Amino acid sequence: MTTGSDLIAQLERLGDEFAAVIAPLADEQTIRAAQAQFLGKKGQVSEVMKELGRLPPVDRPLVGQAANRVKDTIAAAVDARLVALAAARRAADLARTVDVTLPGRPCGGGHLHLLTQVRLELVGIFAELGFAVAEGPQIETDWHTFEALAIPKDHPARDMQDTFYVADEIVLRTHTSPVQIRTMQGHPPPIRIVAPGVVYRRDDDATHSPMFTQIEGLVVDEGVRVSDLKGVLLHFVNRFYAGSGGGLDVRLRPSYFPFVEPGVEIDMSCRFCRGGGCRLCKGSGWIEIGGAGMVDPDVFAQVGIDSERYTGFAFGMGIERMAMLRHGVNDIKLYYEGDLRFLDQF
Ligand code: DAH
Repeated sequence: MTTGSDLIAQLERLGDEFAAVIAPLADEQTIRAAQAQFLGKKGQVSEVMKELGRLPPVDRPLVGQAANRVKDTIAAAVDARLVALAAARRAADLARTVDVTLPGRPCGGGHLHLLTQVRLELVGIFAELGFAVAEGPQIETDWHTFEALAIPKDHPARDMQDTFYVADEIVLRTHTSPVQIRTMQGHPPPIRIVAPGVVYRRDDDATHSPMFTQIEGLVVDEGVRVSDLKGVLLHFVNRFYAGSGGGLDVRLRPSYFPFVEPGVEIDMSCRFCRGGGCRLCKGSGWIEIGGAGMVDPDVFAQVGIDSERYTGFAFGMGIERMAMLRHGVNDIKLYYEGDLRFLDQF
């Protein structure tokens, strides 16, 4: 027959056992699990207490007191163990030494993309001549892109600039020339701007991409002449291709663009053979770098500028092409692929 003192002895044994169980445990989770095994609803202390009902009532209070003592002992043991573990962790942290004299891990420096470098350089060169930078949207109206530049809907010049239509009258601009229109609409002459930016066309081969960048130039003032255009272009090619040793010439070859009259292709003397003729310039000694011309009076009429008083010139060049010619890049896709073996060279 179980007596009160039997139960008290069992409870005290549980207290001792618990101390032995948690002594080797090193993390809070397993310590709490052990605590539950002893003190939980189905824990060992509860098991012992189930016997309480069988005791004569006079013995019960002493057993109850013993049970409370065991619970306190177990709780105190848990606390003490957790405090000891935390102290040990902190001591280990403090004991760790850090060698502050070790060299840092190198992290490679990045740099601007070649096209960005070239664009900023171009803007800088034209800034030397007093040009400001103008910008326009890449998603442009058909009117700014074509109509206002004297390229009506049925004009054959549209075939060379097939593009992506966002809506009936909204296109991805095929050239930076619409910035001419926006600038002239927004500012009275004198105007002297360059407009670098992204353009889109239905083109795709080693030297053409559906997305590429151009730089446009526009000067409008009284007395602006073709010789001014040529002077600006001469300055530009000799600054941009300075590595060629200077003395590069520019040739304006009659051509047709609807928004200029006369219109020209801009050729510069081949910087590789210096006019002698080589594979790059196909033996001609000249390399084409863009289009230009004197602003057509029809265009002035569209934007309300008096063509009796003002004249102007405009030009447009491809930035990828200029960088290709200077750095010997032979595939336009290299610019956009993000391959560091290419990008790191510049
Ligand atoms: N916008 C033309 C193109 O992308 C290039 C051009 C030609 C621009 C003549 C001009 C210009 O400003 O006067 O093909």
